[in-house]
Amino acid sequence: MKADYYNLKFESGKLKYLDQTELPLQENYISTDNYERIAEAIVRLEVRGAPLIGISAAYAIALSLKNSIDPKKDFYTSFNRLASTRPTAVNLFYALNRMKEKFESITDHKSVYDKMLDEAVKIHKEEDEFSEKIARNGLRIFKKKSNVLTHCNTGSLAAGGLGTAFSVIKHAFDTNLVSHVYADETRPLLQGLRLTAFELDKNGIPYSVNTDSTAAVLMQQGKIDIVITGADRIALNGDSANKIGTYNLAVLCNYHNIPFYIAAPSTTIDRKIANGTEIDIEYRKGAELKEIKGLKIVPDSYPTFMPAFDVTPAHLITGIITEEDLFLFPYNFIK
Ligand code: MRU
Repeated sequence: MKADYYNLKFESGKLKYLDQTELPLQENYISTDNYERIAEAIVRLEVRGAPLIGISAAYAIALSLKNSIDPKKDFYTSFNRLASTRPTAVNLFYALNRMKEKFESITDHKSVYDKMLDEAVKIHKEEDEFSEKIARNGLRIFKKKSNVLTHCNTGSLAAGGLGTAFSVIKHAFDTNLVSHVYADETRPLLQGLRLTAFELDKNGIPYSVNTDSTAAVLMQQGKIDIVITGADRIALNGDSANKIGTYNLAVLCNYHNIPFYIAAPSTTIDRKIANGTEIDIEYRKGAELKEIKGLKIVPDSYPTFMPAFDVTPAHLITGIITEEDLFLFPYNFIK
């Protein structure tokens, strides 16, 4: 079954992306050739998910050089702006640094836009290919037909191809290894309820959505065989940042003796950091908790605590599936 939506496309000199803030009730695509509009889209989570943020940023950098009369100035302005959008997903910085290396290797700026666009397309293609390989490597974690629990959104709305954890689930479902997917709603922005449910639905995979706090009961009732999530940044020792609530799941899995896996491309591994204490965690505005679609549900003055991500210690992660291999604890990604 081929789904009838796509995350983003570069066509006719513009980036066309699906506005994820309106899903699942409206499927609106936005086209732009303005890098600043793409930076805003990343901040607003119109485009989100670690690898997809990187892909979008690569296209944004290329677009900032379209018709540029001062490529050097325009490159560094757009580079700094995009680098300031979201701090946690290392894929953003991976893509920006690839674009920077490419830019700095170009001596003749006459066709700089075309060359930079080629690099963005290359990054996009590589991420698509990683997704397929992650799916294949991920089959190894299934010992029998399983019920899977997942958190946040990890499909094509978050990454290249069919995504990370989602592509493992989809490939395993197509191979008759998945019976049912339990999707955490993922408070407060509901990536699970709005986006993962949308993708499971479109792909014909049996699922139900549960509140995040229901995960413990599902495990207690023996309904979960495996938990698989994505990641936004993985340290060299395997400590992994992902959507807030992922650490809770890993602790629950440990208690209930359920395997907990992460699926992510190697571009999510930050080879500069030894462990998770060095991961920059994004904090979001309290309004994202105190309002639903702009409707206030409590007074503005109520204080909140809003980390968007948490860090799961490596020893709670049974395995990390990348396009290269299935890595098992203890991790050592130094190469
Ligand atoms: O804040 P978001 O929606 O960008 O957070 C996304 C996640 O936490 C995903 O689980 C992660 O990026 C893995 S995606 C393939």
